[in-house]
Amino acid sequence: MWAEFPHSQSRERKPHANSPAQYRKAQRQPINISAAEAQPLTTSLRVSKPMKRVILITGTPCVGKTTIARQLASKLDAFYINLTEFAEKHHLIAGEDEKRGTCIIAEEKMRLKIAEEIKAAEKAAIVIDGHYAYAVVPKRYVTRIFVLRRNPIELRKLMEQRGFAGDKLWENLAAEILDVCLVEALQAHRQEKICELDVTGKTAEEAANEILAILDGREQCLVGVVDWLGMLEKEKLVEEYLKI
Ligand SMILES: Nc1ncnc2c1ncn2[C@@H]1O[C@H](COP(=O)(O)OP(=O)(O)OP(=O)(O)O)[C@@H](O)[C@H]1O
Ligand SMILES: [Mg+2]
Repeated sequence: MWAEFPHSQSRERKPHANSPAQYRKAQRQPINISAAEAQPLTTSLRVSKPMKRVILITGTPCVGKTTIARQLASKLDAFYINLTEFAEKHHLIAGEDEKRGTCIIAEEKMRLKIAEEIKAAEKAAIVIDGHYAYAVVPKRYVTRIFVLRRNPIELRKLMEQRGFAGDKLWENLAAEILDVCLVEALQAHRQEKICELDVTGKTAEEAANEILAILDGREQCLVGVVDWLGMLEKEKLVEEYLKI
């Protein structure tokens, strides 16, 4: 059973074929995308209009998506969309999951609205921030997906500062430990589009600069860069941190 993200908006999830740990083993080899592949700025053949770069920033709640995505958008002079604000502004909340204390998103409506926003945006780059961004941005527009990762020991502190406690804290921490966001992104999109970024101990500016370096082809786009479960096992902290 997979952890939902109980503190914010939710969406229905399909069961995963593989466990994150199995997936991690299979995906241990880093992938490297060349600069040319990283920035498809023009379409081929008849369409000569430059394509917009649509960059998704995803990751477990509290990992730092909004702080980092805003920095990135500012550095790229990009149009910024925060999915939580977007859902409220455009009345895309279909209901409430009382058990989880979350809003349920009208996914199809959101997909259509996001497509409209992308087409209408006057900027060359669009940064979209939200833990379910991989699911609601039409695939054909997505250039890159950055899955932010943070060591669960540091993440727990940030969550507690934010007031997370009880099931909400442990479910979200388990999601980070078990790579839920990464696995979901990989199930929805081609691996070549997905880059994992460990932001532990980094300032938002450092993390945003790393994303820029990957987009420019100066740094590698990698998947399989963290192993929180292995780290917790080594530190004998699994029971303390993995409580679901
Ligand atoms: N690089 C960082 N270093 C230390 N603390 C950070 C960093 N980035 C964000 N924070 C802090 O962590 C908390 C969560 O950050 P943020 O709101 O950006 O996360 P988020 O992933 O967008 O969360 P949500 O999923 O709830 O939208 C905030 O209190 C923020 O100040
Ligand atoms: Mg946020």
